[in-house]
Amino acid sequence: MDQLKQESALAGRPWRYAAPAVVLHWLLAVLLATLLGVGWYMMSIEHEPGADWYFNLHKSVGIVVFGLVLLRLLWRLGHRPAPLPAYMPAWQVKLALATEWALYGCMFLMPLLGFLGASYSRDGVIFFGIPLPAWVTPSHDTAETFFELHENLAWIMVGLISLHVAGALKHLVIDKDDVVKRMGW
Ligand code: HEM
Repeated sequence: MDQLKQESALAGRPWRYAAPAVVLHWLLAVLLATLLGVGWYMMSIEHEPGADWYFNLHKSVGIVVFGLVLLRLLWRLGHRPAPLPAYMPAWQVKLALATEWALYGCMFLMPLLGFLGASYSRDGVIFFGIPLPAWVTPSHDTAETFFELHENLAWIMVGLISLHVAGALKHLVIDKDDVVKRMGW
């Protein structure tokens, strides 16, 4: 802990993430896992009665997540976190940062692509019971194009989340350092 604190003090930044960043991180972790789970589940029962409820839940929570992701991105752009410890090999620092920025990209694009696909589909978007106004002419082909990107990006996101979690576990179990504590652990 001391080394992290000393290096952060030298860089003139707090050693850990501020409360808003920590709350948004864990809230989004839970909501993203829920959206991935509900997304795959609803596709597996797509043509069964009751599937609509899951689709509408997925769309509504997805829109809330988009708002939270915008908040998180705005916060992050204004608050640079403290540097990772100097004893970490440069390639690990680069990989960690590249994974984090790729995750920001996915978190921004996923809800946007889902919203565009749903807007072009015949079902449209119902946000927690409130039908949102149609702003485009429905087109099956356009909707499918956006959904295909949405589906492929889900797998890329799962790969990035796995890498991110593997890195955190390495710090907790192998390095036994305080890097994960920076995110309020
Ligand atoms: C970060 C946010 C989101 C995540 C992680 C996510 C994840 C997923 C996943 C895993 C699937 C299943 C893909 C498949 O196997 O076909 C899916 C499907 C779908 N999502 Fe999302 N989603 C998000 C946001 C949204 C939003 C905001 C909307 C719309 C407002 C939306 C609408 C849909 C629809 C309609 C489908 C079914 C697509 C089809 O019929 O092929 N999603 N989503």
